[in-house]
Amino acid sequence: MLKISNLNKYFNLNTINEVKVLDNINLNVNKADFITIIGSNGAGKSTLFNCIAGSILADSGSIILDQNDITYKKEYLRSKMIGRLFQNPLQGSAPNMTIEENLALAYLRGDSSRNSFSMITNSDRLFFKEKLKELNLNLDNSLNQKVGTLSGGQRQALSLLMATIVTPKLLLLDEHTAALDPQTAKTVMDLTDDIVSKNKITCLMITHNLNHAIKYGNRILMMEKGRIVLDLDNKENITIDNLLDRFKKETGKLLDNDRILLSSE
Ligand SMILES: Nc1ncnc2c1ncn2[C@@H]1O[C@H](COP(=O)(O)OP(=O)(O)OP(=O)(O)O)[C@@H](O)[C@H]1O
Ligand SMILES: [Mg+2]
Repeated sequence: MLKISNLNKYFNLNTINEVKVLDNINLNVNKADFITIIGSNGAGKSTLFNCIAGSILADSGSIILDQNDITYKKEYLRSKMIGRLFQNPLQGSAPNMTIEENLALAYLRGDSSRNSFSMITNSDRLFFKEKLKELNLNLDNSLNQKVGTLSGGQRQALSLLMATIVTPKLLLLDEHTAALDPQTAKTVMDLTDDIVSKNKITCLMITHNLNHAIKYGNRILMMEKGRIVLDLDNKENITIDNLLDRFKKETGKLLDNDRILLSSE
């Protein structure tokens, strides 16, 4: 479904500040895999997502999504196939537009028979309401509310809905609950799990929360210094302690992430 081969990315290539941020990444993702990704700060996790989504281009290697070579495809073309959420809840939606307008943009993007300026029909509106209702955040009667007035959690849930309202080929979640308070983070994480499993979405989720890394999805990747150092597809009996032990065994060091959350919630 997603096949990444020999992917390399440098920053400041051929300068004194040259760093290799992705070092020969190879990864095969199966359809409907829900993979959690953990690693130290600066391991290259977000850079990997940037290369997959097209916000930056890899220096060498290839990224094949559903038999399409997207390695050098423009970001806006990839965004029709790839949904993405960021740590910052303000990043995924337009504050001065209403909930309905935001949803319409996301919805029409995936519909080749209409364009972004097409009229929103009453049946679209009913569909949006139904989808909002599933979030359980009391937003289904607020289609005309400006998105900038929503709370961080509501806004992140809306971004999640926008990213999945047309089922994407791939969903990239980059610590999307890290900026939320624990209760809201749980709500958004439960919603995520629900939407991803129900729609069998192929999903990669970077998380600083080791409990989430273990609890959600079917496979865990660990990254360190631009490499995938561990790929666990059997999570049976995995605990935080043995995850940390395995990380140490593979890298010779402790997992070093300033946002890491070990506590259960
Ligand atoms: N645009 C850039 N220019 C130069 N260096 C960059 C750029 N973006 C990222 N880096 C560097 O690349 C390395 C990997 O960064 P990246 O953001 O991918 O790490 P990460 O694993 O997502 O870390 P974190 O857990 O802190 O989010 C870091 O050393 C970072 O400073
Ligand atoms: Mg990051």
